[in-house]
Amino acid sequence: MKKKITDSDHDLYKINFNMGRAGKRNIRLAIIGAGGIAQTKYLPAIMRLRTIWEPVEIVAVSRRSEDQGKKIAKLYGCSWYKNTDEMLEKEKLDAVIVTGPDKLHTEHAKNCLRRNINVLVEKPIARSLVKAKELCEYADEKGLVLMTVANKRYSLPYVHAKEIVDHGPVTNPSLFCGKFNLKLLQGSLLESGTIHIFDLSRYFMGNVKSVHALGVKKYKEYNLDYPVDNLVTTIEFTSGSVGTIYSSSTALRFKPWERIEIYGNSNWLSIDDQHELIVYDSEQGPIKIFRPVFTNCAYFYDEEIGGFMGLVENFLEVIRGKDKPRTTGWDGYHAYELVVATQLSLNRREEVELPLDPSEADSEQTKWLKSCKF
Ligand SMILES: NC(=O)c1ccc[n+]([C@@H]2O[C@H](COP(=O)([O-])OP(=O)(O)OC[C@H]3O[C@@H](n4cnc5c(N)ncnc54)[C@H](O)[C@@H]3O)[C@@H](O)[C@H]2O)c1
Repeated sequence: MKKKITDSDHDLYKINFNMGRAGKRNIRLAIIGAGGIAQTKYLPAIMRLRTIWEPVEIVAVSRRSEDQGKKIAKLYGCSWYKNTDEMLEKEKLDAVIVTGPDKLHTEHAKNCLRRNINVLVEKPIARSLVKAKELCEYADEKGLVLMTVANKRYSLPYVHAKEIVDHGPVTNPSLFCGKFNLKLLQGSLLESGTIHIFDLSRYFMGNVKSVHALGVKKYKEYNLDYPVDNLVTTIEFTSGSVGTIYSSSTALRFKPWERIEIYGNSNWLSIDDQHELIVYDSEQGPIKIFRPVFTNCAYFYDEEIGGFMGLVENFLEVIRGKDKPRTTGWDGYHAYELVVATQLSLNRREEVELPLDPSEADSEQTKWLKSCKF
């Protein structure tokens, strides 16, 4: 018998009414520091979620510049505030995404939690381990959602890889290799991008026992606030497995580039630039290739491949009590701990054991950064 074609069979872009989504509790959301990442990733990701019937409302954004603030307010039909505290005071909010400058992340996130607002805070969660720990403890104490940005965990090639590591064929891996490359004219090598790879190393391999790093300041004209511009970190995981992470802030300017390799028993996988996942086995060569189709397809969206849509969706569902967070404030703490441990290893020129004592680590990191001549 011929199958009856329904509307949903034609719903290539998933825009047809979806009762399962539309019936969920509405979440009133604001963004603190609506700059580059908010305007290019979060706001489009939220609009895509709304297009597929997710009940989430962009209530307000804060940022200092008036022309940008008014533009966003007009584009997204929300309010703009120059002053973040005024926004938090006046608006009734369920959730806030914190995308301001790194050094203000903990202050902004804490101000939300104090008002019983759930928070998703961009990476790095803080620029101090003491402050990061205090923030995570505060959220736990208040019983509120604190998630931190590990958008790669929601990016489709990494989602597939996680399945393959958890359920086969590349189970119980022995070796993780991650690479991150973004030529920076300013900014901080590890906090800017490599922190994502540190997070992924924990996501795939579990907790870390120790790190040992070697770095070089090769090209003095770049990366002004950081003592090295290229480095390699070797990692020992508590499972006994090992890893290496390469990080370059000099090699490519026009876009970030990243690669992950995970080695198992008689098989391994690679993920090239958050795009192509290949699983190999020693008998047959490549046994599975996942490559998103970028042309004219539901997976066209960078915010979806970049993981921002999945991240926001997970945040909303956790607030509703309908899902578990795939990344928590504490994951942000541990990713930043790996950044600091790498810095301490560069300073001491020796292996550094984890966990770090937050206040001792902060003070050594500050002294080291000051003592380096940039
Ligand atoms: N997850 C990722 O892949 C990714 C990529 C880029 C940036 N980031 C992170 O996102 C954050 C923002 O980066 P960006 O590139 O969008 O920077 P940006 O400078 O474009 O945006 C930051 C915004 O914060 C605003 N701001 C500054 N002080 C403020 C205050 N007191 N109150 C409210 N707003 C304030 C600025 O006006 C600016 O608009 C950083 O923490 C960065 O590390 C993450």
